Amino acid sequence: MERLVPAEIEAYAETHSMPESPVCRALREETQRTMDYAQMLVGPLEGAFLKMMTQLVGATRVLEIGMFTGYSALCFAEALPEDGRVITCEINEQSAALARHYIAQTPVGKKISIRMGPALDTMRTFTGSFDLIFIDADKTNYLNYFRRSLDLLAPNGVILIDNVLWSGEVLKQPPPDESTAAIQELNRTVANDPRVTAVLVTIRDGILVVRRAR
Ligand SMILES: C[S@@+](CC[C@H](N)C(=O)[O-])C[C@H]1O[C@@H](n2cnc3c(N)ncnc32)[C@H](O)[C@@H]1O
Repeated sequence: MERLVPAEIEAYAETHSMPESPVCRALREETQRTMDYAQMLVGPLEGAFLKMMTQLVGATRVLEIGMFTGYSALCFAEALPEDGRVITCEINEQSAALARHYIAQTPVGKKISIRMGPALDTMRTFTGSFDLIFIDADKTNYLNYFRRSLDLLAPNGVILIDNVLWSGEVLKQPPPDESTAAIQELNRTVANDPRVTAVLVTIRDGILVVRRAR
């Protein structure tokens, strides 16, 4: 992932935002030491943003599509009230094993429930609604995740969609690959969908914040 925000600006923003918890820090450092594609993890600044959104929405039920090693899931769990729950979807057993190790180390870990398997299949099994849905898995399914998320979203809920700037690749025409094309299509679709309003926030790799129109 190419950096869109200069490193010094990102560091300044981090320093002046809520701090990363010790367990998130330890998990981030182990992920960076031991896992391929560690840059997939949202990191301290976006993690703080996710926590703030969870609290602003007053969420008690969070759905995450794409857990990786559990960093963002832990951020949600830390921000949720005692009776709050995070359901997080993942297909990769190796990253889930590391996530379980850290989730077991912290009292907030009891709020997290991991669902292994393709996220679209998992989403089909839900009936209840979610206050916050975080989409952060395979980009070619982003539009499918968005459509299903709208069905599952509570009336005042928020959908957050990560990497919608895709290192700036979204500016390219024609799109250089399938993932870029899928993200472009998602951004276009959300911007033109009268059922929702959205703002594309330029934190890290871009986060699309979506709520129902009213
Ligand atoms: C960008 S990472 C998630 C990062 C995580 N949200 C964080 O910040 O710590 C995307 C994850 O989605 C998972 N994934 C990819 N396709 C998936 C699918 N169809 N269903 C569930 N998970 C999937 C990948 O294995 C990967 O761990």
